[in-house]
Amino acid sequence: MRDPRQRIEFRLNGAAVAVQTEPACRLADLLRDELDLTGTKIGCNAGDCGACTVLLDGEQVCACLVPAAQLVGRSVTTVEGLAGRGELVALQRAFHRHGAAQCGICTPGMLMAASDLLARETRPSEAMVLDALGGVLCRCTGYRKIVEAVLDVAGTDAAPIPDSGAAVGARIAKLDGIAKLTGAERYGADAAPADALWLRAVRSPHASATFTIGDLAPLRAKYPGLVKILTAADIPGANSFGIYPDIKDQPVLAAGFVRFRGEAVLALVGDAATIETLTDGEIPIAWQVREPVIGIEAALAPGAPALHEAHQDNILITGRVRSGDVEAALAGSAAVVGGDFTTGFVEHAYIEPEAGYARRVGDRIEIFACTQTPYMDRDEIARVLGLAPEVVRIIPSAVGGGFGGKLDLSLQPLIASAAWLLDQPVRCVYTRPESMASTTKRHPARIRARIGADAEGRLTALDFQADFNTGAYASWGPTVANRVPVHASGPYVVKAVRAEGRAIYTNETPAGAFRGFGVPQAVIATETLLDELAERLGIDALELRHRNAIRAGDRTASGQVIAASAGLAACLEALRSRWHHARAIAEDANRAGGVIRRGVGIAAMWYGIGNTSLSNPSTMRVGIDRQGRVTLYSGAVDIGQGSNTIMAQICADALGIPVGALALVTGDTDLTPDAGKTSASRQTFVSGAAAKAAGEDLRRQILARAGAGATARLVVGDGRLVVHDGGAVREIDLAALPASNESGDVLTGSGHFDPPTTPLDADGQGVPYASYAFAAQLAEIEIDTRLGTVKVLRVTAAHDVGRAINPIQVEGQIHGGVAQGIGLALMEEYLPGRTENLHDYLIPTIGDVPDIECLLIEDPEPLGPYGAKGIGEPALIPTAPAILNAIHHATGARIRRVPATPDRVRAALKAAGYD
Ligand code: FES
Ligand code: FES
Repeated sequence: MRDPRQRIEFRLNGAAVAVQTEPACRLADLLRDELDLTGTKIGCNAGDCGACTVLLDGEQVCACLVPAAQLVGRSVTTVEGLAGRGELVALQRAFHRHGAAQCGICTPGMLMAASDLLARETRPSEAMVLDALGGVLCRCTGYRKIVEAVLDVAGTDAAPIPDSGAAVGARIAKLDGIAKLTGAERYGADAAPADALWLRAVRSPHASATFTIGDLAPLRAKYPGLVKILTAADIPGANSFGIYPDIKDQPVLAAGFVRFRGEAVLALVGDAATIETLTDGEIPIAWQVREPVIGIEAALAPGAPALHEAHQDNILITGRVRSGDVEAALAGSAAVVGGDFTTGFVEHAYIEPEAGYARRVGDRIEIFACTQTPYMDRDEIARVLGLAPEVVRIIPSAVGGGFGGKLDLSLQPLIASAAWLLDQPVRCVYTRPESMASTTKRHPARIRARIGADAEGRLTALDFQADFNTGAYASWGPTVANRVPVHASGPYVVKAVRAEGRAIYTNETPAGAFRGFGVPQAVIATETLLDELAERLGIDALELRHRNAIRAGDRTASGQVIAASAGLAACLEALRSRWHHARAIAEDANRAGGVIRRGVGIAAMWYGIGNTSLSNPSTMRVGIDRQGRVTLYSGAVDIGQGSNTIMAQICADALGIPVGALALVTGDTDLTPDAGKTSASRQTFVSGAAAKAAGEDLRRQILARAGAGATARLVVGDGRLVVHDGGAVREIDLAALPASNESGDVLTGSGHFDPPTTPLDADGQGVPYASYAFAAQLAEIEIDTRLGTVKVLRVTAAHDVGRAINPIQVEGQIHGGVAQGIGLALMEEYLPGRTENLHDYLIPTIGDVPDIECLLIEDPEPLGPYGAKGIGEPALIPTAPAILNAIHHATGARIRRVPATPDRVRAALKAAGYD
């Protein structure tokens, strides 16, 4: 047969190259697979995300859309070609100092798009930047720091890394940030052993069906490159997994029946060409399709088929909080408002689809993949393989965004099973449609609520019922059902509360963890109703919130007394003048009439940091070796939020050395202790406290050896550890000490922290969280009443973070959270079976995210490291209801279903009397 490949010559990063490839080969694949330039990322392979952006003859193009044939005689520049002689160029340095790269998966594309612009315009305007970068999606940063970086490309370089004791609170650029700017960072799809086989899951096209797999022998005969067809019967241990120890309800591979469209039924393992060529239609699977249970209402209808034997009513779990006599309190209220609210599935849309490889190493197995929770993965994979946890090693790749979606297993049990059985490395990279079809989403919610207040606006009662569609499997459904009732009454003192949350099984895509665990949905209902209540009572909406804000010493609906660090009132005070000013400007503008109207809305939130009423520990270790190298061993996975830098800042100050002198080993379960999951906004608070304790522990040991006092100064480096204590100088002879661990450290400090909580009783009474974050946000919007389109003009976000360990990272989290809140409010809805890629799932682009002003309130948390709490999820939670309240301010229309797409906005406007 004629070789379809051709010789193609072009210039790549300034040098001539010649490749032998098929003319239709995508440039992105050519760069990554043939030329080993993995700095160019693939997020969609469809021209939607821009992650693959490179320069072709100096102009930005999507490398996934350019066939190799078009390269002949032309010039390609990738991110690897940006930095000259190992030095970062000015644009990369600007990204670094502004914190413009969080997870970094979009960063190469952003840099290339910006390079194209800057080659034409050395001093571009913001509008030019928005235009030039408009084709590259970022899910983490909210874009603002990227825009700042491009506009400040000629700015001065970052301040030097601070000295001992000055790291906490400093605006330090990411300590691990350079690799994200050069393309050197290794994400799940960027590395695999050369002899790795490929794995592709074959997934159900039906939401509910039984099936039988026919004779596979002809397929094996037809495709010699097909090494194994993995079915449920092949799974070495338990063919099930799940988040909770007592709920392992999701099979690795379906065994005879499927519960959602996209569920894996078998996996093909073989060489890349075979796996790609073999179509699903060739696989002998006989389906008997059943009527699926779609939506909460259908699942709860009398006689609805049960998805799981143990839950005949399809109710996975019910969580509740009850305090006081709600009916009596509502009856005695001066005003009561209520309503029904609906939210849809929301896709995480991290730009990195799931990817990784597994390899067997003797009697052990190693898995390199993107994850937010290495130790939980380790234990789950051990179950699936029927092995002891200690023989499983998880090596987290860099994570190209998670937001909760990479807390659940995805490809890990498949590649691990295949690699274990075949004793050969196996890799897998999900396509974007596969990622969307098979991985968890934000729970759709159906919420009914009533809130009452007395004539002064003091909240009297809340009656709240929320049902969450957990899809086919439990995943984090119990977490959502239990967390939401605790949070339902919001950051307010409410005397009587009846709040219930249920997780409901359906034949839809499993819903799991997504930034806020159901609280963002709940807050859409309650914060909208609070606005109505304020209006009904004739009280300013900010003032009503301020009047009811939980303060230190107040008791929550769960009966917990908040001892300290309750900064909502301070957040609202910080917003007060801006609120009145912005409202007045909007009202002035609206007096002129016309179809465009302006509005300003406010919403507040609280958020319990860490697991709800469950042990939630983290352990950190820091060691110093004979060469005087100090290393922090952190199992806290950094998914872009910056925890690697945060942990180092905290540990370095506790130990008393410059943060720049601290090396990091992260994530690997063989090398780092268990720091728990990167979820529930817990790493700064929980792992940060453990990192502080570890630093203090090592310092104690060093001072004891030196016989030095508590204020002594440590100097490390050049193979020495010197202790300066007043006038005395003592050197510890590190070379004389025996190694205390396999890493070669001779002195090791360790720290452990488990936030003090108690279980909740049947009425949800107890101490569910040791600490809470508080926030309030203002959204200023403009709405076209004719079209129903809403543009967010500005968001002001006041967040009580306890202590901002690194303000750049905190601001980055707020920006990214606000951007996701805009998506939740206005545009994002995943439709199972219909949404396939990023062209039919719209997330905010650079043009959709306005100026975001961050007001950091530091009401110190006594339990937190240097007073710090968490920010990841709180950043998103108030944004959507603030926007919905702004729409009401602008037009008088109330939106009770999100996303508020133009058709829904138009319907609400019509109901409010607009034409
Ligand atoms: S990978 Fe090319 S645009 Fe998404
Ligand atoms: S930093 Fe842009 S997608 Fe993560």
